[in-house]
Amino acid sequence: KELRIIGAPSDLGQGRRGVDMGPSAIRYAGLREKLHSLGCVVKDLGNIDVPMPEMHTVKNEKLKYLDEVLRVSQDLFQRVQSVVEDGHIPIILGGDHSISIGSVAGVASKYRNVGVIWFDAHGDMNTEETTPSGNIHGMPLAVALGYGHQQLLSIGGFTPKVNPKNVVLVGARSVDSDEVRLIRESGIKVYTMAEIDQAGMGQVMSEAIEIAGNGTDGIHLSLDLDALDPMFAPGVGTPVNGGVTYREGHLAMELLAASGRLVSVDVVEVNPILDNRNRTAEMAVELVESLFGKTVV
Ligand code: ARG
Ligand code: MN
Ligand code: MN
Ligand code: MN
Repeated sequence: KELRIIGAPSDLGQGRRGVDMGPSAIRYAGLREKLHSLGCVVKDLGNIDVPMPEMHTVKNEKLKYLDEVLRVSQDLFQRVQSVVEDGHIPIILGGDHSISIGSVAGVASKYRNVGVIWFDAHGDMNTEETTPSGNIHGMPLAVALGYGHQQLLSIGGFTPKVNPKNVVLVGARSVDSDEVRLIRESGIKVYTMAEIDQAGMGQVMSEAIEIAGNGTDGIHLSLDLDALDPMFAPGVGTPVNGGVTYREGHLAMELLAASGRLVSVDVVEVNPILDNRNRTAEMAVELVESLFGKTVV
């Protein structure tokens, strides 16, 4: 399998500028070169075009930049779809997490029974009814499962994109008061940090891979860098203490690599403006190396 990098420099799904520089920061940290050194065949397809928030106005406070997010989602959906139709693995670089509305639609259009591992400090299970911020990056997992605004659901022309019984949220530690209801009702599996502490990342990821990978067409990993502890990934817009450690993060990626079930991956929420040098993008690249088979000997 060959890898294809697609940049989605979107700032539209959340309030803090700078996450649109995520694709550059991750490329600057050497993504393509490092994957190439691992023996992967990898091509960079460049960035999709994303409108700047300054050029547009918020029309709905509960769905900020909805029209612009829809345009980006539609474009990314088509790019990702064409990569998976070619039999390649897309690596989609955000941008904020709203870009996963398009990427999940793209991968699910080919792998109709895809499983999802959502690596995140947050639930990303808000809808316009529950969102405290109106930021669409707090909604993409809900959209994948068929909850939320009709136009967001319609990207790709089918909904839901994924079956809750094959969806796992790993690393959760910040869920909004009204968001928790949908998380419970949806039937997805959630591993909070407490469960990672208790059972260990090895056990949690074996179960997660079983849930997302057993009997499915493959696994889509949506890697929000804020799942990591801010100590290791300070450059994110919505950091939350008590996150996944460096070693737990790598173990998780190594176990996913060993599963052989990965079909696509999002790398999102890297904001170099808020970073300490380029540490978060470097962390992201290291994790992706582990995800594609980097080992010691
Ligand atoms: N739950 C909060 C919200 O809806 C934060 C979401 C953070 N999401 C993310 N992809 N980093 O606004
Ligand atoms: Mn090709
Ligand atoms: Mn997220
Ligand atoms: Mn998050």
